[in-house]
Amino acid sequence: MEKSVSDTFAIRLDSAAAQVAAALEALLGEAPLDGEIARPAHLILAMRHGVLNGGKRLRPFLVIETARMLGAPEDAALRVAAALECIHCYSLVHDDLPAMDDDDLRRGQPTVHIAFDEATAILAGDALLTLAFDVISAPETDLPADARLRLVNALSRAAGVGGMVGGQALDLAAERVSPDEAGIVKLQAMKTGALLRFACAAGAIAAGCDDAIVARVTRFGEIIGLAFQLADDLLDVTSDAATLGKAAGKDAARGKGTLVSLHGAPVAKQKLAALVDEAEAVLAPFGDAADTLRQAAGFIATREK
Ligand code: IPE
Ligand code: IPE
Ligand code: MG
Ligand code: MG
Ligand code: MG
Repeated sequence: MEKSVSDTFAIRLDSAAAQVAAALEALLGEAPLDGEIARPAHLILAMRHGVLNGGKRLRPFLVIETARMLGAPEDAALRVAAALECIHCYSLVHDDLPAMDDDDLRRGQPTVHIAFDEATAILAGDALLTLAFDVISAPETDLPADARLRLVNALSRAAGVGGMVGGQALDLAAERVSPDEAGIVKLQAMKTGALLRFACAAGAIAAGCDDAIVARVTRFGEIIGLAFQLADDLLDVTSDAATLGKAAGKDAARGKGTLVSLHGAPVAKQKLAALVDEAEAVLAPFGDAADTLRQAAGFIATREK
């Protein structure tokens, strides 16, 4: 029987996830690299707990698929993808800390600070953040030096004070004073959108594309970044911990300002559908070559976990 479009998409997502898991496994070995002194075993274990635990690997998938569409070298794209997943996993380890969202469950397992302790979770996050820049800048990421430098710079901007970390700061502030719609969109573009935006831009940078192409896939990443967090906020209201592998109902319990709390779930769902349409329209000039990315936009909106 012929495979449906969604079967093909699921197979691609699974196969990217397996490749990324293998790359991460190799990066998180106990043996110190040239220039390192030693890798403390309990810290490596905590990092592995936070990373090798069955995430969807959506960000690395977007790096790999954007790179494939635009003709970047596969091995280099895989390393950039794994580096981005390190940053994402670090953001989750820290997001779950008692001082932040105070969550016990992540990807169906105890969070890193529960399985280890808070100090170890903080350090595991710190070490994953640093590892990401090691991986991209290392000569094993077989790209021209200027492309590696651009990737390091773009990832720094996406992950730091003006991106994910800044967004997390605004998100915590939003528990005290509810932002308006523009404020929510900005904080979500930062806390979640910035890494997804980088995921798409990275494939184009690795492929050495011109500015117009980089800008177009970056725009796609921005839109699906907003869609992704909107879907996460909807799932927080409509799903349960057994399905999500993380606590549900947390946003309302913490009084978190989201588009779902502002407008209600039905309006939020309409906004989500509109974002998917907008994302697909941005891909139009790439034609059939963008089919997988188009499906990724749909997946983000319809995912169940
Ligand atoms: C969860 O991200 C955190 C958000 C930005 C909403 P994912 O839903 O991609 O989590 P994993 O990586 O699949 O666990
Ligand atoms: C997390 O947002 C965003 C980052 C980790 C940067 P959430 O706090 O909504 O993510 P979940 O619901 O815990 O996965
Ligand atoms: Mg949070
Ligand atoms: Mg959280
Ligand atoms: Mg959430």
